[in-house]
Amino acid sequence: MATERFRREVIAGLLSAPKRLPSKLFYDERGSQLFDEITRLDEYYLTRTEISIFERYLPEMAALVGPNALVIEFGTGAGIKTAMLLRSLDHPRAYIPIDISSEQLAIASRELSARFPTVAVHPVCADYTESFRLPVVERGERNVIFFPGSTIGNFEPPGAVEFLRRAASLVGTPGALLIGFDRVKDRKTLEAAYNDKKGVTAQFNRHLIERVAEGFEVSISPEDFEHYAFYNEPENRIEMHLVSRKSQVLCLDSQTIHLAAGEHIITEYSYKYTPESFAKILAESGFQVSNTWTDPMDYFALCHAVVQR
Ligand code: AVJ
Repeated sequence: MATERFRREVIAGLLSAPKRLPSKLFYDERGSQLFDEITRLDEYYLTRTEISIFERYLPEMAALVGPNALVIEFGTGAGIKTAMLLRSLDHPRAYIPIDISSEQLAIASRELSARFPTVAVHPVCADYTESFRLPVVERGERNVIFFPGSTIGNFEPPGAVEFLRRAASLVGTPGALLIGFDRVKDRKTLEAAYNDKKGVTAQFNRHLIERVAEGFEVSISPEDFEHYAFYNEPENRIEMHLVSRKSQVLCLDSQTIHLAAGEHIITEYSYKYTPESFAKILAESGFQVSNTWTDPMDYFALCHAVVQR
């Protein structure tokens, strides 16, 4: 049985109209593994492009972050980007990874400590989309939040602003943010990235159904849902949906949920920004952009911004 919280969030999402399931629920062990597979797909340009931007501009980024930094990371991935950043920084003091998954957090912390013995690692198991407290650690000269991967794209713009405002108050002054975002581009490239030929993204999407089945001990099958992903151009976002292939009834605890044949469940929004629209979001959140770096194709971007006093 899943946690009370997981169950509450699933039920609330499926009772809303249109039905939704929160994207953060993708990332249990299996989901993180599927996402890792996505990052290596030909069509999924995001991760590879972001890493190429790091390779080229990390010295500039590190100079902006400055010496003796305390690095706070929202979420932990495969750890490649974190290692790249820590290697480039001038005497980073401490690394505080914040992740919803304790297993993921343990793996990431262990690896980073082994690789960077002089950096103190203080893992925090928390849902970083909600408020939490940071451990009291020796303060660096500057705290920096590291938020690569364009995960910020999962928030609707007002939610992104609210989230970044909290990030600004968490990091304090002098404080900074090093954040990645995916850029607005042609529909074909965008839609291919979320509809890969191997069907890994479809599997990743349907994995949410496996989580619901396990979490509530109900028989609901991923095969009864179709993966649907498209670019909603007016809203500048990729939308991922699961479409019910048949009429089905779900009994989740004391709630009965009906799914009509052809009914959609929204599972993810992935917003795309221009450097201008992203700078606006940051300004509204109390950050001032110091620099934005991109790739020769203008596919992805990384931004360094400081908390305004
Ligand atoms: C991890 C949120 C950046 O939006 O591209 C990948 C998740 N979803 N394929 C994204 C995802 C489908 C990914 N983020």
